[in-house]
Amino acid sequence: MPPPAAARATLAAAPPAAPPVVRARNVHRYLGAAAEVQTQILKGVSLEIDRGEYVSIVGQSGSGKSTLLYLLGGLDRPTTVDPATGLPFDPPSGVDIDGRDTTTLGETALAALRNERCGFVFQFHYLLKEFTAAENVALPMLKLGRLKRRDALDRAADLLGRFGLADKAKRRANRLSGGEQQRVAIARALANDPAVLLADEPTGNLDKANSERVAELFQELGANGQAIVMVTHDTNLARRAGRMITMEDGRVVGDERAGAATGGVADTTRAP
Ligand SMILES: Nc1ncnc2c1ncn2[C@@H]1O[C@H](COP(=O)(O)OP(=O)(O)OP(=O)(O)O)[C@@H](O)[C@H]1O
Ligand SMILES: [Mg+2]
Repeated sequence: MPPPAAARATLAAAPPAAPPVVRARNVHRYLGAAAEVQTQILKGVSLEIDRGEYVSIVGQSGSGKSTLLYLLGGLDRPTTVDPATGLPFDPPSGVDIDGRDTTTLGETALAALRNERCGFVFQFHYLLKEFTAAENVALPMLKLGRLKRRDALDRAADLLGRFGLADKAKRRANRLSGGEQQRVAIARALANDPAVLLADEPTGNLDKANSERVAELFQELGANGQAIVMVTHDTNLARRAGRMITMEDGRVVGDERAGAATGGVADTTRAP
């Protein structure tokens, strides 16, 4: 039955809602060299990450957390055709990043969307050793091509300053401590002011003090409205996020919001 005229008018007047920063639609992923030895890693994951949400993903080793994170950030693509039937999954398996359906994008367009809209932090920082901290942070900006080198380096120095590294901006990456290098990597992930920051075990290689520093930094970014998706084994860290997603055997089995009276049940009925 169509909505009454008054309701239609209200709908028409409402401003268009911003799309989620990331949306997984019935995401499947099979991995393996040959079709006959393919393993089903993700078994139909659907979720949305909204603007400003700080979300952690937990679950046992091998449950598919990293695989899902890479798919959410466009570093990998979902399997779209069911190997068992040879037919596309129904509903179609896909990922939208900041409202763009990545399944329709070619490699170059996907790489460009990723550089502009997603920031990545991994367990190991992957900085360019021979470059300074500021040069490492400036690289994604120079790749995007909106800033001149001088302005990119200035912005990089500002970001490093925010993370307590103002005096280390001109130091070569391989002359920084592990904790400092990881903070440089976080600054680099934020270089292009991404729609979403994606992190895979960002404290996995750090001692307790440096882990705490990174945890505080993420919390501060989250409080300032940066959307974050963080995979971690550290339940203390995970609980500091506003929402915690639990994975098991390639599926989402829990989706709790901080402060919710009961947890563990996927909340799919949230009002917009
Ligand atoms: N290229 C690949 N080919 C086949 N199987 C793979 C491949 N990459 C990952 N897998 C398998 O997929 C499953 C999920 O891997 P994934 O790395 O997503 O797990 P995870 O939850 O991140 O685990 P961990 O907590 O140990 O990092 C694992 O069983 C893994 O062995
Ligand atoms: Mg992993």
